[in-house]
Amino acid sequence: MTTAGLFSPFSFKTLNLKNRIVMAPMTRSFSPGGVATEDVSSYYRRRAAADVGLIVSEGTGVKRPASLNGPDMPRFYGDAELAAWQHVIDEVHSVGGVMAPQLWHVGAVKTKHETWSPPGPYDSPSGLARPGKQFGEPMADHEIADAIAAFAEAAGNAKRLGFDAVELHGAHGYLIDQFFWHGTNERSDAFGGPSIVERARFAAGILKAVRAAVGPDFPVIIRISQWKSQDYAARLAETRSEMQAWLGALIDAGADILHCSQRRFWEPEFEDDGSDLNFAGWAKKLTGQPTITVGSVGLEAEFFGAFRGEGSETAPLDELMRRLDRGDFDLVGVGRALLQDPLWATKVKEGRADELQAFTRESLATLT
Ligand SMILES: Cc1cc2nc3c(=O)[nH]c(=O)nc-3n(C[C@H](O)[C@H](O)[C@H](O)COP(=O)(O)O)c2cc1C
Repeated sequence: MTTAGLFSPFSFKTLNLKNRIVMAPMTRSFSPGGVATEDVSSYYRRRAAADVGLIVSEGTGVKRPASLNGPDMPRFYGDAELAAWQHVIDEVHSVGGVMAPQLWHVGAVKTKHETWSPPGPYDSPSGLARPGKQFGEPMADHEIADAIAAFAEAAGNAKRLGFDAVELHGAHGYLIDQFFWHGTNERSDAFGGPSIVERARFAAGILKAVRAAVGPDFPVIIRISQWKSQDYAARLAETRSEMQAWLGALIDAGADILHCSQRRFWEPEFEDDGSDLNFAGWAKKLTGQPTITVGSVGLEAEFFGAFRGEGSETAPLDELMRRLDRGDFDLVGVGRALLQDPLWATKVKEGRADELQAFTRESLATLT
């Protein structure tokens, strides 16, 4: 097995990457009061200096009162917050790295903090945390317009600060995904409806506003998932044609690169015809756009175990390389393996497989 395919360059619009490895967005909660610290910049710079092609930041909140559900998650608005992000991107660029912030709104996902709550009401399409579970109130039209404007403003700021691309968090059961999912979107206005294309109008509104803010050439990535943290078995697109319509609506609205989140990248997306293509594989095949795969690359166990304090043994990269070399997807997201070890990409590049580390629960407690 050779990993050479992981280390070939990739270009799209103004994005020029030295290789195919993408650091997956991972919330670390080391930004007190929403401002990324020097430790946060060093954490990203270390990975940029060690052969990571593209870094996607941890989710960073857009300008809505309850866009984040923790006090130490970084915000992407405000003078101090943006100055901190300016420092992060300057540090990453100083070692030849490339980076996109992940713009995030958590929607109706309650904080786990006992002594902190967001400084305003939770936003969501229908006031549901999950199907049948009332939590907060449905967003009014002016709140939806404000949320769309908040994503656009953040994307414009990302470009102005010098970031190389922007990623919208449209996955995992957070606000944009709460609009996608029939289980949490019961609206009967323009932002709801029986089809995924109707429920994608909120995302499309954001993408159009983001595109207007950053211009035609700036790469816009959207992260999407069938599964939700509220329900691993949930699906937005049951069929290829539904998937094509959904993703087509996102691309028509301005999305460039589809970041297709799975918990295990090797799981086939549709099981009815024996095809082993995964989500990123089908997304690329159906749309022709570049895609990013992600989910347990280099590790045996999937990532939700990390939140229950579980580690994971390392796993070989053969199956990943088989799919990448076959052309299923363009880029490969790596989460916990890179959280654990800033040198993961360099070790893979240099064939130092015996030095790759298992993921340990202790790694979550520090910014190594
Ligand atoms: C500690 C931690 C924090 C995460 N935070 C985010 C996040 O802010 N945004 C996001 O889209 N995904 C987040 N994820 C999911 C990862 O981006 C990735 O999809 C997942 O960990 C699977 O990749 P892996 O198996 O290589 O770790 C997080 C995962 C972990 C382990």
